[in-house]
Amino acid sequence: MELLSIVLAAGKGTRMKSKLHKLLHPVCGKPMVGHVIDVLKGIDCKRIVTVIGHEGEAIRSYLGDEVEYVVQEKQLGTGHAVLQAKSLLENEEGVTLIINGDGPLITAESLTKLIEVHKDTNAAATILTAELDNPHGYGRIVRGDNQYVTRIVEQKDCSTEENEIKEINTGTYCVNNKKLFQALNQVTNHNAQEEYYLTDIIGILKQQNEKIEGYVLKDSNESFGINDRVQLAQAEKIMRDRILQQHMRNGVTVIDPVNTYVEAEVTIGMDTTLLPGARITANSHIGSSCIIGPNSEIQNTTVGDYVTIKQSVVVESSIESHTNIGPFAYLRPGSKIGEHVKIGDFVEIKNATIDHHSKISHLSYVGDAKVGKNVNIGCGVVTVNYDGYRKHITEIADEAFIGSNANLIAPIKIGRGSYVVAGSTLTEDVDEDSVAIARVKQTTKKGYANKLKNRIKNKTNN
Ligand code: UD1
Ligand code: CA
Repeated sequence: MELLSIVLAAGKGTRMKSKLHKLLHPVCGKPMVGHVIDVLKGIDCKRIVTVIGHEGEAIRSYLGDEVEYVVQEKQLGTGHAVLQAKSLLENEEGVTLIINGDGPLITAESLTKLIEVHKDTNAAATILTAELDNPHGYGRIVRGDNQYVTRIVEQKDCSTEENEIKEINTGTYCVNNKKLFQALNQVTNHNAQEEYYLTDIIGILKQQNEKIEGYVLKDSNESFGINDRVQLAQAEKIMRDRILQQHMRNGVTVIDPVNTYVEAEVTIGMDTTLLPGARITANSHIGSSCIIGPNSEIQNTTVGDYVTIKQSVVVESSIESHTNIGPFAYLRPGSKIGEHVKIGDFVEIKNATIDHHSKISHLSYVGDAKVGKNVNIGCGVVTVNYDGYRKHITEIADEAFIGSNANLIAPIKIGRGSYVVAGSTLTEDVDEDSVAIARVKQTTKKGYANKLKNRIKNKTNN
């Protein structure tokens, strides 16, 4: 039986108070609708139809052609929303999973279980439900004497008795595709909100003596839907805990989970330790046996094994194995750091390759540069890459030694094994195996210090 799905994403999301479409607000770095779509792809949905409406173009440009779209011009209710998919899906044989785009915490395991129950029981529809201490606001699951589901009643249409029911409709369902569209044709808007309720198909199918099942979520958090920014933060926290626990189970040590932030797409190898304040985002991939933190931010970066990154910021870069970064280093986009490299305190690297075994230990700026192997860059070295109009390249060949406080005015090449004397300001290329010195010769006036001091002290301003 083919698995189809319909994602409801046409709502306005006004309570977010945002210019950004509600469903594009990220949860642990990934837009909430992205989480839902990824879960659907993970359970092998043959077709995913997304119902878009208000500012749907934003959703379309994020999801691209990974899914199909139908547009619901007016938000007349969830039943009306699903009906928009009719032209695309009505002839399909199979099971249709209907899911809300604003529930990023749902897991592939639970959906697989829901589908299993649906198939094993031969039900026409199976509802994913949850037991909540406070069910207020949700549609309630009404079960008959034999515990079979008979219908769903919306909060606003509840009797006092129904109001007490703790089992709620999560808004996710598995429905026989043909029966879904046949039942939807009969849904009306005769209710408190004058909306076409998708939930009414349950009562309709029941009256046709179809079997309805309910599958209760083991972890009711998975049904959490986001409507405002308070709920956004709550979802973020639940997902963050989940992500960290997954890494811990895979062999990553997290010293202080409350103060550690790892986004959804990040991978981390075994025996890596995350210290407090580590924040690893986007498509970052961290190898094994690394130490990250305390207080380090790593964005969209690939890191090898046995790397330490301490109190540093690393953005869109790559760092190979056995390299130490920080404390207080800033690796800006395009930094490619080799193996056994040291990037020390207050060093900034940008768009530069630093090859194996090189050292930049303190207070340097290396930008738009190509640094070879075994190079030593002393304290306070600056690659002067910008003339106010254009960026220029600095090339430093293998084994070179750049003395402290040298300025390398680019474009410039320092040859293999060369030695740049401390304090030099170089404007010309240096051949291999050469010594370059470019600074004024020192003069020392013996016994003159006191004289000079007095002269300065007694100087008047007029
Ligand atoms: C719905 C269910 C309720 C369930 C709850 C779970 C109905 C009638 N009720 O209620 O039983 O407990 O979800 O969260 O279905 N949408 C559209 N077009 C519309 C209306 C809604 O695409 O015309 C989308 C929304 O963007 C949202 C989803 O459908 O993603 C649910 O809509 P919402 O209005 O939030 O439904 P609830 O009233 O919460
Ligand atoms: Ca809702």
